[in-house]
Amino acid sequence: MKQKIYITRKLPDYIVEAYSKDYEIKMWDKAETPVPREVLLKEVQEVDALFSTLSEQIDRELFEAGKNLKIVSNLAVGFDNIDLEVAKEFGVPVTNTPDVLTETTADLTFALLMATARRLIEGYEIIQEDKWGDWAPFMLAGADIHHKTIGIVGMGRIGEAVAKRAKGFNMNILYHNRSRKADFETVVEADYKEFDELIEEADFVVSLLPLTKETKQKFNKKAFKKMKETAIFINASRGGVVNETDLYDALVAGEIHAAGLDVFESEPIKSDHPLATLKNVVALPHIGSATVETREAMINLCFKNIVAVLSGKQPLTEI
Ligand code: GLV
Repeated sequence: MKQKIYITRKLPDYIVEAYSKDYEIKMWDKAETPVPREVLLKEVQEVDALFSTLSEQIDRELFEAGKNLKIVSNLAVGFDNIDLEVAKEFGVPVTNTPDVLTETTADLTFALLMATARRLIEGYEIIQEDKWGDWAPFMLAGADIHHKTIGIVGMGRIGEAVAKRAKGFNMNILYHNRSRKADFETVVEADYKEFDELIEEADFVVSLLPLTKETKQKFNKKAFKKMKETAIFINASRGGVVNETDLYDALVAGEIHAAGLDVFESEPIKSDHPLATLKNVVALPHIGSATVETREAMINLCFKNIVAVLSGKQPLTEI
């Protein structure tokens, strides 16, 4: 009898097909709507492997329901949706998708930084709304990026890839991380800073922090007050590292200049989300790793982890 896999989103047949001759695969039938919790809890009872996304809470209730579960393979590098302690208690390995999305997410982070600094979305809107009048000396005048100071908070793989891009723009690079990365510092000439020092000195404060108990709402009123009035805040990690009310207040009060946000505390957001109503915010719908090549690579990595575990081998990228 074939082993069973449940996938919590509709994935393209051309990828899934390759695995369906060896496994019995069932998928939630919608690509853009998460599987309802009660359906997930029912489906997981039957399967050997769960292929999940960041929309699902992988918690005690789920592991209790998934009596035959041998692996949870999550389609993301971040894993704040998963209770790893409980997974360990149940002896179920959990995998994520590091490395394959590093450069792609760094591209988006830098694109968001550039779009925010150079007001690209406002420029697009001016054309769409037929508001392009005569040339004006300060029309859509933004902030320079080159030779400015970028402060990267969370110097993991994606942080390093962002730092390399920043070096190409002749930026001065500061970083803060749980541990210092002496070898990498020399590669891009980055300076390690305490968090408070970094946010005081940086022109661009870029969050690439994972969401944990320690990082929850690290960017709050106190932090925004410390930043320069000209600072641009970029978040491409998790919305939960920001106190969104404090960020909104800081932007409205002019305590910081602008923000570029790919992530929000509770996703998806609508156009009436306070932060999305501000002209000096570029808001994106969590598309850090969203390229065709990278999503295919992430999906294949999830399957490879499942195949490894279901054939008695070590997973490739266990968390
Ligand atoms: C996306 O946010 C991820 O963690 O991969």
